[in-house]
Amino acid sequence: MTLATLADVLQPALREGYAVAGLVTLGWEDMRAYVAAAEAEGVPVILQAGPSCRAHTPLPVLGAMFRHLADQASVPVVAHLDHGYTFDECREALDSGFTSLMFDGSRLPLDENIAKTKEIADMAHAAGISCEGEIGFVGYSGGEDSAGTDPEEARRFAAETGVDAMAISAGNVHLQENKEGGLDEPRIRAIEAATNVPLVIHGGSGVPVAQRGLLSRGSAICKFNVGTELRMAFGEALRAAVNSDPARFDRVTILKDTHEPLVAATRRVLEGFKGESQC
Ligand code: 13P
Repeated sequence: MTLATLADVLQPALREGYAVAGLVTLGWEDMRAYVAAAEAEGVPVILQAGPSCRAHTPLPVLGAMFRHLADQASVPVVAHLDHGYTFDECREALDSGFTSLMFDGSRLPLDENIAKTKEIADMAHAAGISCEGEIGFVGYSGGEDSAGTDPEEARRFAAETGVDAMAISAGNVHLQENKEGGLDEPRIRAIEAATNVPLVIHGGSGVPVAQRGLLSRGSAICKFNVGTELRMAFGEALRAAVNSDPARFDRVTILKDTHEPLVAATRRVLEGFKGESQC
């Protein structure tokens, strides 16, 4: 049984200088591969159910899948709700066995974001689980622009909400398919000087691999969310599996061929977040 909360895995990461991957799951095939990769690398992993995952599969089913994988795993596994937008959604995740709730109030005015996030953090802590909040909007590649996090607002947000992890906006965007650009390191330094809370970077796929590694080991960033990069790896493996034999129609047979390529791609991602204590 290695089910863990977000605080359980991020506090050692902060102390020892490494980051933990928050991996976007869409179904059984990817969540199973992510845990296999984490076991092979000997690192904790955060399985995340975001909005599109939840649109496909009900939260109680996802909670049971995450917990089943955690029960069998040899490394700590966090069952995390990603981008919860309402109290009810967060409550349902808690009732479904999740061990970490992200409330995303980053589109709200600061005071409202603080008040609503605190409500979720209090609910999570009363149940013995963790909460992640977001301050400063993280935009979307080809869509809404980011609003960089203001360090003073981040200080207030961390102190007043009591979150276990704080997602920030520092040059990162969701859904980026290349690794052009990079994070605004002076902004990250100013934010980490203002608070002791572990920091989270959403949109980890678009961050250059070298910068992910340097910041994992040398900053308060303790969690990188990665989705697009691994969805692309899965999509490529699935396409190859489908095209390899036009006579195959059984989806279990086809999907089996995606497992090893996805484990290999995930291991490469996880390896890049390791600190010295994990090598
Ligand atoms: P990417 O898909 O851009 O890696 O972002 C994932 C994420 O931040 C999920 O919250």
